[in-house]
Amino acid sequence: MKKNKIKITPSLLSADFGCLASEIKKAEKAGADMLHVDVMDGHFVPNITLGPFIVRAMRKVTKLPLITHLMIENPEKYVKEFAKAGSDTIIFHIETTKNAKALIRRIKSLGKKAGVCIKPKTKVSSIRKLLPLLDEVLVMTVEPGFAGQKFMKSEVPKIREIRKNFARDISVDGGITYENACEAAAAGANVFIAGTYLFGAKNMKKLIAEMKKIKVCGN
Ligand code: DX5
Ligand code: ZN
Repeated sequence: MKKNKIKITPSLLSADFGCLASEIKKAEKAGADMLHVDVMDGHFVPNITLGPFIVRAMRKVTKLPLITHLMIENPEKYVKEFAKAGSDTIIFHIETTKNAKALIRRIKSLGKKAGVCIKPKTKVSSIRKLLPLLDEVLVMTVEPGFAGQKFMKSEVPKIREIRKNFARDISVDGGITYENACEAAAAGANVFIAGTYLFGAKNMKKLIAEMKKIKVCGN
């Protein structure tokens, strides 16, 4: 199997938005490989967060890839705006579109990487046919909507199942800590998204350095 580099991705949902620029700089200096941006619309998930306007502001203060996790209905309507604002990867939930293939093509035609996300209760079979088209698959280990929830071990077998047929990035999102990132890595995940664990830490740099040493299955 091709080696997949470990990428540590702080989730800005747990940053202090009152000083977003310095929070982004803090994550950069701590060794973050990418930044995770959670977009919620109050429909697909009960919470509301941010739109392209804020992504544009983030883009101005960092060169790190901005991974945009859309938890919104009608993603087709907004991908162009996020692409223009500076998102590097756009990830949507499989339930939010009637034509996932067309949406992936659209994201790629905008010059961006495309990813799909499955939340708990969503089966791997729902995305199997899309795997050859995708740059990334995101497996959620909490119900989408809020930071600070507990990691759901029950979702780990999905990572293993996807890894059998997918050689690119598999990311995990929700309640990630060093310990459960090790479990996810043993199943084949190589991108670890963490909000509370990293932004809540006294020493983000130390935690990121530890996470980068995790052994990924197959690597
Ligand atoms: C939840 C979001 C996550 C969240 C993770 O719906 O998709 O990215 O920010 O936060 P923690 O790491 O605190 O679970
Ligand atoms: Zn997320």
